[in-house]
Amino acid sequence: MYCRTNHSAQDLAAQVAHAIAQQLRDKPDSVIVLPTGSTPIPVYDYLIRMHREWGLDFSQATFFNLDEYVGLGPDHPQSYHNFMQKHFFGHVNNDPSRTHIPNGLAADIEEECRAYEDKIRAAGGIDLAFLGMGGNGHIAFNEPGSPLDSRTRVVDLDGKTITDNARFFESASEVPTQAITMGLATIREAARIIMMVTGEKKADTVHRLFTGGITSDIPASVLHFHPDAYVYLDGEAASRLVQEQVSLPPSGLPQLTAGRG
Ligand code: GLP
Repeated sequence: MYCRTNHSAQDLAAQVAHAIAQQLRDKPDSVIVLPTGSTPIPVYDYLIRMHREWGLDFSQATFFNLDEYVGLGPDHPQSYHNFMQKHFFGHVNNDPSRTHIPNGLAADIEEECRAYEDKIRAAGGIDLAFLGMGGNGHIAFNEPGSPLDSRTRVVDLDGKTITDNARFFESASEVPTQAITMGLATIREAARIIMMVTGEKKADTVHRLFTGGITSDIPASVLHFHPDAYVYLDGEAASRLVQEQVSLPPSGLPQLTAGRG
C-alpha cells in the first residue's frame, strides 16, 4: 500500500482526477469502480472540467458503483443513483448501457447481488477501483467485521455509518439500515486501487490504517494486501501520520510521497 499526500484537498482531488484520466487515456475501455460520499465530489468536478475543456472521453469505459441503499430508488434524492447522476454521470459522456449501480429496489436482492458480480466478471474484471473511506474505516459499505473474502451482498449498516450519513437525510431515522455493497474480495481483485481520504475527522482512523496492520476492525486495511493500492491523503487526514512520522519522510508532507504499508 502506497501513500500520496497533498496539503490541499483541492490539489489532492486534481491529482486523483489526473490518475483516473491517465487510466482512461492508457485504456479507453477501462472498467472503473466509483464511490459516492462528499470526498469524491471535487474529483468528479475536476473530471467534468477535463471532459468539457479537454475532451476527456468516458464513452468507451464501463463503470460500476460500489454500493446503493436498500429501499431507495433512483428518484430518491439520497439514493446513490441520484448522487451519481447529479455529481458525475449527468455531465459527462459515459455510456448508460455500460454504467452500473446496484438496484436498491430489486425484488430479489440476493439475485441482484449475484448478477452484479456476474456483470463485473463479464466486463473482464476491474481495472481501477476509486474508493472513499468511511469514518469507521469502511470501504463501500463493508463495515468493520466484514469478511476478507466477501462478495457483493446485502449488509446491515453500522451505527456509526448511520450517524455519519444522517447529515444527508432529514434525520438518522430516515437513513436506510441496509445496503447492497461490493465485497472486499471483489474490490481487492481490481488491478489498481486509489483510495482518497480527506479531513481531520478521519485522521485517527487513517493513523490506525497505517499502524495497525490488517484488521477487520478497519476494513480499508485490506489494501495492505494489494500490490498496486494508493491512499491519497490531504494534510488534515494525514495529520497524525506526520506528527508521529509514520510511513512518511521526516520532512513532512511533500507533493508526492511513497511508503510501503
Ligand atoms: C458512504 C459510502 C462510502 C464512502 C463513505 C464516506 O458510506 N458507502 O463508499 O466512502 O460514505 O463518505 P464521505 O466521503 O462523505 O466521508
